[in-house]
Amino acid sequence: MRSINDNNESIFCGNELAATLIDMVRKKAPSQIFLLTDQHTKEFCLEAVEPHLGSWNYHLLCIAPGEESKTIKQSEILWAELSRLNADRNSLVINLGGGVVTDLGGFIAATYQRGISFINIPTTLLGMVDASIGGKCGVDLGVLKNQVGVITSAFATIVYPPFIKTLPKRELISGWMEMIKHGFITSKEYLDATLLFETNDLSKIESLIWTSIVIKNNVVQNDQTELGRRKTLNFGHTLGHAIESYGLQKKGQNWIKHGEAIAIGMGLACYLSHKIYAFPEEVFNDYLSKVKKLVAFPNFTENDIAQIIDYLKYDKKNSHGGVNFVLLKDIGQEVLDVTVKNDFIYEAFGAIGQSKQ
Ligand SMILES: NC(=O)c1ccc[n+]([C@@H]2O[C@H](COP(=O)([O-])OP(=O)(O)OC[C@H]3O[C@@H](n4cnc5c(N)ncnc54)[C@H](O)[C@@H]3O)[C@@H](O)[C@H]2O)c1
Ligand SMILES: [Zn+2]
Repeated sequence: MRSINDNNESIFCGNELAATLIDMVRKKAPSQIFLLTDQHTKEFCLEAVEPHLGSWNYHLLCIAPGEESKTIKQSEILWAELSRLNADRNSLVINLGGGVVTDLGGFIAATYQRGISFINIPTTLLGMVDASIGGKCGVDLGVLKNQVGVITSAFATIVYPPFIKTLPKRELISGWMEMIKHGFITSKEYLDATLLFETNDLSKIESLIWTSIVIKNNVVQNDQTELGRRKTLNFGHTLGHAIESYGLQKKGQNWIKHGEAIAIGMGLACYLSHKIYAFPEEVFNDYLSKVKKLVAFPNFTENDIAQIIDYLKYDKKNSHGGVNFVLLKDIGQEVLDVTVKNDFIYEAFGAIGQSKQ
């Protein structure tokens, strides 16, 4: 197992799921264990975990899959369940699932009786390289994502890449986009590696997953409260989130996945970076030609774009009424807190639609 051991959090990645889990649970010596899954991870991932918890007193908690479960209402149901089952300050929550399960499970654990320990076992690619790393957890408020939450560390995060074998293709691509983002914000070498999108060779993916974990963890460790470098993780996310919110409200839950919206957002951010900071055009074109083979870019009308721009006002990176973008001068060279004119945003939508393929 590869591992990172910081003061208050350990991250493991590799094939020895059972041994690592048993070891970490022994260290914690919990009074009880609460294993949180959603219906899909209960079906596909539970059998790799459950047999190893036999010697502890544990309860299974299962939620409906999808973002609809990431709510205060669902949190209340889980808090009540913990209370009914006499969870105490020495109980342990194990989150077995994608970003929804780790965000929600981390949040209920961090708040129940002012905080009990939790272990994350991410089961989606997005969960492995992004959602389970860095300590952000929380729930949505209506269509506004992640409006209520905390930043806290998991006792351990155990990444077991074989879980991605049962992931639907769109979910796999969605997670992959965050790895491409890690490339944009660090090095050309890693960006080129992720743009190859070799999802059939698990051994190659494993080492890319590990690189992404290290990148995200480094950025986060150096900036827990998002005052500086952590903002680079929002590359592609300003317009990406606005597209996601627009999709949720106007087109329904399944129209666009987070990573698909981010794929479009990164295309737009590349164009804006090129326009404002001379980011290399060939990198922008190479990105678009490769990513458009994986993600369908919708045709946005002027009216759609106006609505998307309107959603920018909810972006959590905003300050003093201005919308703050993360742009790049070059791969790995970020410029934070950039204000962008709406005209440029319309132009960027045009550019990602018409660019060479
Ligand atoms: N905390 C953070 O820093 C952070 C970062 C990025 C995203 N997020 C959050 O993560 C969430 C998205 O995460 P996600 O994309 O993992 O979504 P998800 O948890 O909804 O999982 C996607 C789908 O895949 C299913 N699934 C999970 N593992 C599976 C497996 N191994 N095989 C088959 N199906 C499986 C799930 O049941 C679900 O239907 C969002 O709520 C987002 O806000 C949080
Ligand atoms: Zn993201």
